[in-house]
Amino acid sequence: MTEQQFIPQAYANHVSSGTVSWESPSNIALIKYWGKKKDQIPENPSISFTLNACKTTTVLSYSKKETISDFDFEVYLDGERKPDFQPKIKTFFERVFVYLPFLKQYKFKIETSNTFPHSSGIASSASGMSALALCLMSLEQQLQPEMTTAFFNKKASFLSRLGSGSACRSIEGDIIVWGDNETVKGSSDLFGVKYPYAVHDNFKGYQDTILLVDKGEKQVSSTVGHNLMHGHPFAQQRFAQAHENLSDLKPILESGDLDSFIALIEREALTLHAMMMTSMPYFILMKPNTLEVINKIWAFRKATSLHVGFTLDAGANVHVLYPKTEAKSILEFIKTELAIHCQNGQFICDEIGFGAKQLQ
Ligand code: DP6
Repeated sequence: MTEQQFIPQAYANHVSSGTVSWESPSNIALIKYWGKKKDQIPENPSISFTLNACKTTTVLSYSKKETISDFDFEVYLDGERKPDFQPKIKTFFERVFVYLPFLKQYKFKIETSNTFPHSSGIASSASGMSALALCLMSLEQQLQPEMTTAFFNKKASFLSRLGSGSACRSIEGDIIVWGDNETVKGSSDLFGVKYPYAVHDNFKGYQDTILLVDKGEKQVSSTVGHNLMHGHPFAQQRFAQAHENLSDLKPILESGDLDSFIALIEREALTLHAMMMTSMPYFILMKPNTLEVINKIWAFRKATSLHVGFTLDAGANVHVLYPKTEAKSILEFIKTELAIHCQNGQFICDEIGFGAKQLQ
C-alpha cells in the first residue's frame, strides 16, 4: 500500500453532527522503535504486545460548521479543558488533513481520560493518539459506509502513526509488527500489522507488571531522542540488529522458548538505553531504582528458574514480563521485593490484550 491509497474519494454521505467513542490500549515494544525519518517513518522494524488495562477512552463530538474555516476543536482531559494539548493535536490534524479532508468542515470536542495516572511516566501518546484516530475513522466510515473493517483498521493505524509512531501498534492485538522487514510478510513502514505466524501457548495471557519507578516528566521527549539517532555512531548497526532480532524472535515465538525470549527482550531494552547513553548530547533515563529492580530480577531468576524478564521504554519505569502460568510466585516477588523501589510502592498489573474497542 502507498500513502495515496489513504486519500479518500468524494464522500457518499452527509453527516451533520454526532458522537463516537473508542477505548484504545497502550502497547509495550519487545523490539524497539528508536530512530525515525519524517512523519514517523521508522528506521527499523518493531514488534509489541498490545496491552489490556492501560488505555485511553476518547469521546469525539462533532457538528458541521456553516462555512469551512481552520481546524476548530477543544480538548478535555478528565472533564477539564486542556489548552496545552491543543498544539500537539493541531499538528496531528495538519498532518492527517490530506487523508481526512472533512476535518475543517466540523467543530470537534475531544474528551479523553486514561486508566493510568497522567503523571505515572506511562506515555499516553500511543493509547491517546490511536483512540483519537479511531474516533476520526468512525466519522469517516459514516461518510463512506462501504469501507471494510480491514481498511478501517489499516487507516486507523496509519493515522495513529502520524500522531505518534508507536500508536500505530495499538489498534489491534495481540502482537503487532510495524516497519518494513523481510521476516514478516506484509509488514509496512506506514502502519502496524498483526503478527501473522504461529505463537506458542506460553505467550497466551503474558503478564506485564509496570513498576512506577519514577513518575516525573520525561527529561528528554521521544521525538528528541529519535532525532539523536541521526548521525549516531552506532545507528546503522542498531537498525540492522533490530532486523536480526525480529528474525530471531520468530522461532522463539513459535517454540515458546522463554529463556531465549527473555534474553532477546532484555538485550533490546538495554540497547535502547545504550543508544541514549551514547548519543550527543548523551543522557541517562534509568534511575538507581531501575538498576535495583533489574539486579533483583536477575538474582530471583537465577535462584528460582522462573521466567521473569524485563523491558524498558524511554524512561525509568520497568515492565516486568512473565508467563501467566508463573504469575502467582512472580507477583508475590514483585510485591515483596520490587514494590519498595517504586514511587509510593505503585505498580500496575497488565497483560497482553486484543486491541481497541468501540464504545456506544
Ligand atoms: C522507546 O512513539 O513515543 O517507546 O513517534 O516521536 O511519537 P514518536 O515517538 P514514540 O516512541 C516510542 C519509543 C519507545 C519504543 C517503542 O515503543 O517502540
